[in-house]
Amino acid sequence: MHVLILGANSDMAQALARKFAQAERAHLTLASRDLELLAKQARDLEIRFQIKARPLYFDATDFPSHAGFYHSLAPKPDLVILAFGYLGDQKRAQEDFGEARRIISINFTGAVSILEIIAQDFEVRGHGGIIGISSVAGERGRQSNYIYGAAKGALSLYLGGLRNRLHPRGVRVLTVLPGFVATKMTEHLDLPEKLLATPAEVAEDVYRAYTRGKEKVYTKGLWKWIMWIIKAIPEKLFKRLKL
Ligand SMILES: NC(=O)c1ccc[n+]([C@@H]2O[C@H](COP(=O)([O-])OP(=O)(O)OC[C@H]3O[C@@H](n4cnc5c(N)ncnc54)[C@H](OP(=O)(O)O)[C@@H]3O)[C@@H](O)[C@H]2O)c1
Repeated sequence: MHVLILGANSDMAQALARKFAQAERAHLTLASRDLELLAKQARDLEIRFQIKARPLYFDATDFPSHAGFYHSLAPKPDLVILAFGYLGDQKRAQEDFGEARRIISINFTGAVSILEIIAQDFEVRGHGGIIGISSVAGERGRQSNYIYGAAKGALSLYLGGLRNRLHPRGVRVLTVLPGFVATKMTEHLDLPEKLLATPAEVAEDVYRAYTRGKEKVYTKGLWKWIMWIIKAIPEKLFKRLKL
């Protein structure tokens, strides 16, 4: 099995790389911007799990490079994990469209650009799987992070449509909806311990959902019920909450 990880320097992606290397003996292509870090990770995975791992430069916002990047891959992946993301700064994004655009470009436009190229290949081959990491932030607009949330909400809808399109060709798409995860993205935030998952816990949940052929997975699982409640709050009341 060959797995392509986009945004492979993400803490969740690193845990997923270890999980697939250990459980599936998967060979890995680790793609992201920081090649030095990727090379270190690749060496470590090769030694630890006796698999092949290679680092490759990939920038989610360099859209014109995406076709060349994917077509240069040999062999083509059996599974793609889309993990790159950018939380950004909501307050700054309200005043500076550059920040808003960065949030949307990395989390949504970049994902569409590369996944459309991959989907076309999987569709022709009638083979492949996609795991897309979105967020519970995309489930309802909140004042504290609605630009990131909108980008992730769009990504979730996009992954749903892609799943629908690729289903007849036997290509599976799994949408991952993490709640709070202890990674470098959230290290500056004060998050409730009980709701916080480790990247290793996320990797276990995602791997289980993948092997069971699920369409969607919340991680931690408790977030399914939290979001059920949050989505059920009437807008008249919701708009008064400082969430
Ligand atoms: N942490 C959370 O609480 C949480 C919750 C819900 C959803 N998520 C989502 O889960 C995914 C993984 O999050 P994480 O917390 O593990 O992230 P992370 O550790 O902060 O890593 C994010 C990675 O995204 C990569 N990236 C950013 N911009 C990129 C670009 N233009 N092109 C390619 N790669 C780029 C970076 O790679 P380089 O270092 O190579 O630049 C970085 O290592 C993200 O999509 C995130 O939005 C996170």
